[in-house]
Amino acid sequence: MSAKSMDELVSLCKRRGFIFQSSEIYGGLQGMYDFGPLGVELKNNLKSAWWKSMVYERDDVEGLDASILTNQLVLNYSGHEDTFTDPLVDCKSCKSRWRADQIGDTCPNCGSKDLTDPRPFNLMFKTNVGPLEDEGSIAYLRPETAQQIFTNFKNIVDSTSRALPFGIAQIGKAFRNEITPRNFIFRVREFEQMELEFFVEPGEDNLWHDKWIEERSKWWESQGVSKKKIRFLEVPKDELSHYSKRTVDLMYEFPHGEEELEGIANRTDFDLGSHSKNQDQLNIQSKIRKNSDSNSRLAIQNKDTNEWIVPFVIEPSAGVERGVLAILNEAYKVEKLEDGKERIVLALKPHLSPIKAAVIPLKKNNDDLVSLAKNIKDELQSLGRGRVLLENTGNIGKSYRKHDEVGTPMCITIDFDSLENNTVTIRDRDSMDQKTIQIQELTSYFSNFFK
Ligand code: GAP
Repeated sequence: MSAKSMDELVSLCKRRGFIFQSSEIYGGLQGMYDFGPLGVELKNNLKSAWWKSMVYERDDVEGLDASILTNQLVLNYSGHEDTFTDPLVDCKSCKSRWRADQIGDTCPNCGSKDLTDPRPFNLMFKTNVGPLEDEGSIAYLRPETAQQIFTNFKNIVDSTSRALPFGIAQIGKAFRNEITPRNFIFRVREFEQMELEFFVEPGEDNLWHDKWIEERSKWWESQGVSKKKIRFLEVPKDELSHYSKRTVDLMYEFPHGEEELEGIANRTDFDLGSHSKNQDQLNIQSKIRKNSDSNSRLAIQNKDTNEWIVPFVIEPSAGVERGVLAILNEAYKVEKLEDGKERIVLALKPHLSPIKAAVIPLKKNNDDLVSLAKNIKDELQSLGRGRVLLENTGNIGKSYRKHDEVGTPMCITIDFDSLENNTVTIRDRDSMDQKTIQIQELTSYFSNFFK
C-alpha cells in the first residue's frame, strides 16, 4: 500500500517537518524545497545507504566530492552548452511559458492555442566567478555531477592505480533551470544526484550495462521500493541524450503518475574522449569535437599490452529527491484501528528512519524518570545508529501517534517499573506490540535491531 495522493504526502511532510517550500515567508522560490529536521535525516540516510552499497561494499569503486561551480570549458566540451536544452513555447495570450513536449497545442493556463513556435532553452544556470562580469569569467552551476568525475579521471587513476573495470561515485547538488518545475520534489531546479561512472573495456560495455540495471533495481527494492511499481523503460533511440548509446530508465509509479526514478546509460567513450587531449591517437569511437584546450590524456594503459584505451562508461544516475518521494510514497499507510479510529504510519525501513528510537518518560515532571530516560537516550545515541530522541511531552499516546507518522521503528517508555525493577517497555511501530525488557539488555536489543 502507498499514499493515495501527492497531497497526503505534502501535508505530512510539512506537518511533521520533512520538507518545506523554500523562502516560504517571502512567497517561495519556484522549484526549490528545504529539508527540515526529519527530511534531512531521511535524505542523509538514503545517501549513506547508496554510498555504502556503491563504495564500501564493493572493491571496484572510489568516491569523489567535486566542486559545483564548473569551468565553462567543461560544459562546452561535454556538449551541454549546445544541447542541454528543452523546447520552450510562450502563450501569446497569457504570457505563460511551457515545455512544448508537455502541453500539446493548447496553453494549460488559459486554453489559448496562440502559442509561439518551440525554441531551445538552455537549462544551465550561468554565473560569473570573480569580480569581473565578462565573457572570460563565465562558469556554470553543474547540471549533473558526472562531468567532474570525467575531468578528474586521470587524478583518480594516478592516485589509486586503478585498472579497468572500476568506478567513481559521487553524491551532490545539481541545478537545472527547469521550465516547469512541478509535482512537489519530483521536478525541481536544485536537487541532488547519486551518480556512478563505471569505466569498462570497450566491448564489455553491454554486459556491464545489463549488470548495473539489475543491481540498481535490486537496490531500490532494498530501500523499500516495491518491485511491482518499477518498470524498465528502454529509452527510444530518438530520445537518447547526445552522449548515450543506450539508456534504460527505472520508471516508478509516483503519486502523480509513472515517471523516471533513475536512468542507467551507456555513455560510451563520449565523455572521456571529448575531454581528452591527443584525441587522434586514441581510437575514440564516438563522434566528438576536437579538443584544443584539455591538458590531459583521459585514457588508461593496458598493463599487459601497453595500449592506451579510452574506457566506455556505464552510468547509473539517481535523483535523491525522487528517491525520497518514492520511499515516502511506499512507506505511507493509513490503518484502521480496533477502536474504529485510524492511524497514519510511515513504515520506513529502519535504516532510513529519521529517528531510530524515541525514549519517553511516563511523566514529564518527574526528575527520576526524566533523568533515567536521558541516560538511556545518551547510551543509545552513543551506539552510532542515527538519531535517538528524548520525547518529554508526558503524553504517551500522542507520542506514539507522532512517532508512527514519522516512521520511528521503536518507542521506549520509562515508567515507575523502570525505577523499581530496571525494566523498560518497547513498543514496535508496525505491530504496535509492546514488550518489557531489562534495561541492561537494551543496548544489544537496539544494536541488533539496526544491524
Ligand atoms: N548524468 C546523467 C543525468 O543527469 P538525467 O536523466 O538527466 O541524467 C538523472 O538525470 C536523474 O537525476 C534522474 O533520473 C532524476 O532522478 C534526477 N533528476 C533529473 N532532473 C531532475 C529534476 N529537475 N528534479 C529532480 N530530480 C531530477
